[in-house]
Parts: sequence; structure tokens; C-alpha cells
Amino acid sequence: MSIIESVLNETRVFLPSKEFAKKANIRNIERYHELCAEAEQDFQSFWARQANEQILWHKPFTQILDDRTPPFYKWFVDGELNISYNCLDRHLPTQGDKIAIIFESDDGEVLHCSYRELHQRVCQFANTLKLQNIKKGDRVIIYMPMRIEAVIAMQACARIGAIHSVVFGGFSAKSLHERIVDAKAVAIITADEQVRGGKHNALKATVDEAMSMADTESVKRVVVYKRTGAQVAFEAPRDVWWHEITHDVSTQCEPEWVNAEHPLFTLYTSGSTGKPKGVQHSSAGYLLGTKVSMQWIFDYQPSDIFWCTADVGWITGHSYVCYGPLAMGATQVIFEGIPTYPHAGRFWEIIQKHSVTTFYTAPTAIRSLIKLGGDLPAQYDLSSLRLLGSVGEPINPEAWMWFYEKVGQSRCPIVDTWWQTETGCHMIAPMPGAVALKPGSCTFPLPGIFASIVDEAGHDVENGKGGFLVIKNPFPSQIRTLWGDTERFKKAYFPEEMGHGKYYLAGDSAYRDHDGYFWIMGRIDDVLNVSGHRLGTMEIESALVAHPLVAEAAVVGKPHEIKGEAVVAFVVLKSQYPHDKAAAEITDVLREWVAKEIGPIAKPEEIRFGENLPKTRSGKIMRRLLRALAKGEEITQDISTLENPAILEQLKRPTQ
Ligand code: WT7
Repeated sequence: MSIIESVLNETRVFLPSKEFAKKANIRNIERYHELCAEAEQDFQSFWARQANEQILWHKPFTQILDDRTPPFYKWFVDGELNISYNCLDRHLPTQGDKIAIIFESDDGEVLHCSYRELHQRVCQFANTLKLQNIKKGDRVIIYMPMRIEAVIAMQACARIGAIHSVVFGGFSAKSLHERIVDAKAVAIITADEQVRGGKHNALKATVDEAMSMADTESVKRVVVYKRTGAQVAFEAPRDVWWHEITHDVSTQCEPEWVNAEHPLFTLYTSGSTGKPKGVQHSSAGYLLGTKVSMQWIFDYQPSDIFWCTADVGWITGHSYVCYGPLAMGATQVIFEGIPTYPHAGRFWEIIQKHSVTTFYTAPTAIRSLIKLGGDLPAQYDLSSLRLLGSVGEPINPEAWMWFYEKVGQSRCPIVDTWWQTETGCHMIAPMPGAVALKPGSCTFPLPGIFASIVDEAGHDVENGKGGFLVIKNPFPSQIRTLWGDTERFKKAYFPEEMGHGKYYLAGDSAYRDHDGYFWIMGRIDDVLNVSGHRLGTMEIESALVAHPLVAEAAVVGKPHEIKGEAVVAFVVLKSQYPHDKAAAEITDVLREWVAKEIGPIAKPEEIRFGENLPKTRSGKIMRRLLRALAKGEEITQDISTLENPAILEQLKRPTQ
């Protein structure tokens, strides 16, 4: 396999500096191996020790793991806790005045919020939710800009035991609607508008549109945070203003103690069917995962200024904005805007301004910043940085080297963190004071995570060979089920042929090199990774086919310099094959249509029209051929089963 060969030739190795290692939480590889050995001896006791050390329990657990009905695992079974208590109250006696959040708005305004203030605001909003009749176990949709209030909304739900489901502000009314209905949400928390890169996005209007669709009667309240003061439609008594309903509400709120397994949130993500999956996480196991990874992988130190650039609409923003940093009592930066506004040095300016020590972002952002101004970091004082992180997709060695040299000034280790919405926290990632780095490799699993590469039958493959990435043991932060669809949960993640239904199948292909380092190659299912966002090809196909002009559509990915992967759609129209201007016009129409159906992130980069699609005699679309065509490769594969070989010629190039 050529990827493996090219990567096996990557011989650069970066050892942690003595200075970094000296102060690190995990100072050498021996300590890492000790932790792994402890976990291998008895992973349940290992996680129990961590859970006792890291979590403040209202009622301690007496049973560690209930594994009687795999894959429905329960961790710390009879324990009781509250997540918001663990993120806020616990810090008040020791560091109430410490800044929890340094917030920078799109236009550069800066606000500071201490742990004490954040605690008060979360308590006040939690009481407000209760006054609005929202109860433990109710689902609350959060569709908010990236501001302190988004974190307050999430933490307030956690405080009262309501289950939040954050929907990324870039999703369309239709996607929002789908999530409202699936979750049977009782309330939506939103804002009048969102502001990013100087552009206003009308969140409330999108909520209104979603609410006008069928089956939304479960929603009794829409709480609107006033961000810009733009005119919005208001429907009484359903709609209420955040500032009005919180006014005069008490800032003291006893947390709701919940069972360790109480669902903290669901978060929708794409899979290989047209319907998004509501990934359901637990309370205690999830919190534990975010905490240990903050210490092991981000080497959290109390003096850190932590900055994870992810939006709270994604799992990264849940684990490393809303929960992990607060659970550690960290000071973190939250930024409302985008990396390129008002100039391409905005990220570097923020690092300089707030003395950021730990900077966690996505390869796609790194690549676009290289393109827009590869020398820009040199114009800023980035000496506060001590650790860099990458997440979302494999980071190509060129981007890694630039990040290391230009941003980290060859001083800061880079933690390339492999994990997923479903795993809740880092699974394979280096402990930066202990592990020698190889650009492009996420290195080794965390202690207590038994990751491996296996073949179709679930047998380990040898190092140097590609296969399926699996995790062989249950682990505390793992997905508990898919909301309302336990069958799909079992089928998608725990197929029978993998360790008799006991291995967690990640959906990625990967291999280990001769030193045992893990290298992720990409998804094995019909899921694309565009700018670090997960998109199901089926979802985009159903959106396209829903357009009156479209008869048939097939969507594949092709490599893209900045986005990592780009969406290419092959479309058969109901009318005849379009030429010239007609093709260009229909392309525009369909791209906008997809933006409206799903969200702008799903817009196809390219649309090619054909009179038909390449199919087998039984009518199955041959996607591997489409993938080759999208990449512009010569077709060297066997096409003897193809019903209509002539079609390949037409689909070879963009429609003219
Ligand atoms: C998929 C999960 C985890 C938060 C962001 C994405 C890919 C993620 C890496 C990495 C190579 C990575 C995988 C994975 N991925 N991190 N460091 N190296 N690939 O979460 O939307 O659930 O997507 O992202 O393909 O399966 P997600």
C-alpha cells in the first residue's frame, strides 16, 4: 500500500526537550509504560483508581464495571455525582478568583470571567431552566454562537441533569429540525444572531424555520440570547429572552446528583446512512476521560492558558472547551470568530495577546494559515507557547513541520490526538514529556486503552500492515448508545466478527509501523472528512436527490490541499444532460441547495453531470470508479462487471 510505504519512509523523530520533560506530568517513557502495565494487569482497577482520584463523588461507587450485556457497558455503576459541581463548585474554595474564561469576540472585545462568576451565572441559568419547567432527563437543544453563554447553557443543563444536544451554528433549519425531532427536545437555547468574520448569521430565524416544520410540538420554550439586537420574530409564550428570564433569579443552585451513567449529552454525527446518529455519552465516564487526557496529553499545568479553537458544536468543543478545562480549573480562551478575520494573523495575535501556552487546532486550519501567510507567525511574540495540538484528521508531515517550526519555534511538542465523537476523549496520542514524536503519527494509545489493528476476522495484523482500528476493551468515556437506536449502535460499532461483538470498531483504517507507532489512514465507511468535519456521503446524496431537477446522485471524496478532503457529486438530471452555461447554472443551484438542506460545510466542491452513473449489472453504483474519476486517475481497475462502460468517458472531466 503506497500510503504505508511513504509513511514508513518518514524517519524524522522529535524527542521531548529536557526542559519540557522535567516539568511534565508524565516525565519519561518509563512512567508511561508503568501506567500501561498497571492498566494491562487489571484495567478495571486502573480506571477505578483514576475515578476515585479525579472525580468528586456525591456517593462513591462500589462496583466498577457492569459488563453483563455487551456492548452496553456501565461504569462506576452505583456512584452519584454532578458534572457542573466537578467543573465549578470544587474550585471555589481554592481559586474562586482565577479566570476561567478569557473571551474574545469577533470584533476583538475581551471579557474575563472568573470561576466564581461563572459558577454564579451557571447556577442562575440552571435555576432559570427549572423555572421554565425543564427537568432532569429532558433534552435541550443548544444552537448558539461560540460565546461564554454557550458554555453556561451546557453547564446549566448538566447542573440540573437535563441532557443537552448542541447543534453547530452552521447547520441548516432542516438539519436542526431533524435533531429536534429525533431528540424530542423540550427547549431550544439560541441567539438572535451569530457573528463570525464580520458576517451575521440569523440563528433565531433558522430556529423559527425549523419549528415551522412538522413534529416539533415537544418544544415548549425557545430561549433567545441577545447577541446583536437584530430584529427577530417572537412567538409568545414559546419564545423568551435570556436576559429577561434570568433577571432576579437566584445565583444559588443545589446541583442535581445523578447516577454515574446518567446521559450528560447527545451529539449528532454522520454515519454511513442518510440519518445522523445521536451519540449518547454518560456523566462519570465521560468526565473522567476528559480529565485524564487534559493531564496526560495536554500536560495541564495550573499556570497554563489553554486554547482549543473548536466550536462547542463539535465533540472537541464539548471535551476540551466546556468540560475538560473547567474540570481541571484551567484558564482558557474562547474565541467567537474565525482565523482569518480581520486579518490572517488573528490566531497569532490572540496567542500573543493572552499569552496562550497550549494551542489546540485542526490540520485544515493550519494548512489554510500556511497558504494565507506562512511567515506571519514570525511577526508575533509566540514565546508563551509550550505545547501544540492537532485533531480531526491526519496531519500531513509538511503541515506538521510548519506548525512545529514556525508556530512552536521548534520548542513545543505537538500532540496529534486521534479520537472521535464516540470515544469522548483522546484515545491515541502522545504524552508530550515522554514520547518521541514522528510527524503524521498519533503515536501510542493512552494507558487503559487497548487499541489494535485487525483484519476482517478481528485478528491482529502484524506491524507494517494496514487494517481496521479497534479498541478491544471497554473504557469509561466511550459512547453508551445511539439515541433511540440501540440496534444501529450494536451494528455500527460492535460487529459480531470483531472479537465476538466485543471490539469497538472505530471506522478508520490504520497501521502500526515497526516501532509500534499508530498511523491513521482514513475512514473505511462512506464518511468524508472535510475540513475536519464528518460528513456522510449518503446525507449529501439524499439532499441532492430531494431537488426537483435531480434524478440520481452519488457523492465521493477527493483529496484537497486545504480541506483534506473535498466533496465531489456525480449527478444525473431528470432532464437531459446539461451543456455549458446550463451546467454552470445548475451547479450553483445545487450547491446552494445542499447548503440549505444540510449546511454550507456540505456544499460540493465540484459537480459532474452524466447521463447515467457507472453501475454493475445488478444496479449497484460503483463508487470506487467514481473515486478514481474524482481524483483524475486513469481507470486501471477491473470494469468487466460494469453495465455501461461508455459512461466513464463522460464523467472523466468536469462538465463543460
Ligand atoms: C474521525 C472522527 C475527534 C474530534 C474531531 C473529529 C478522524 C480525528 C484524527 C487524527 C487522523 C483523525 C478519524 C476519526 N480523526 N482525529 N488525529 N488523525 N484522523 O471527530 O467528527 O467524530 O471524527 O476524525 O477519521 O474517525 P469526529
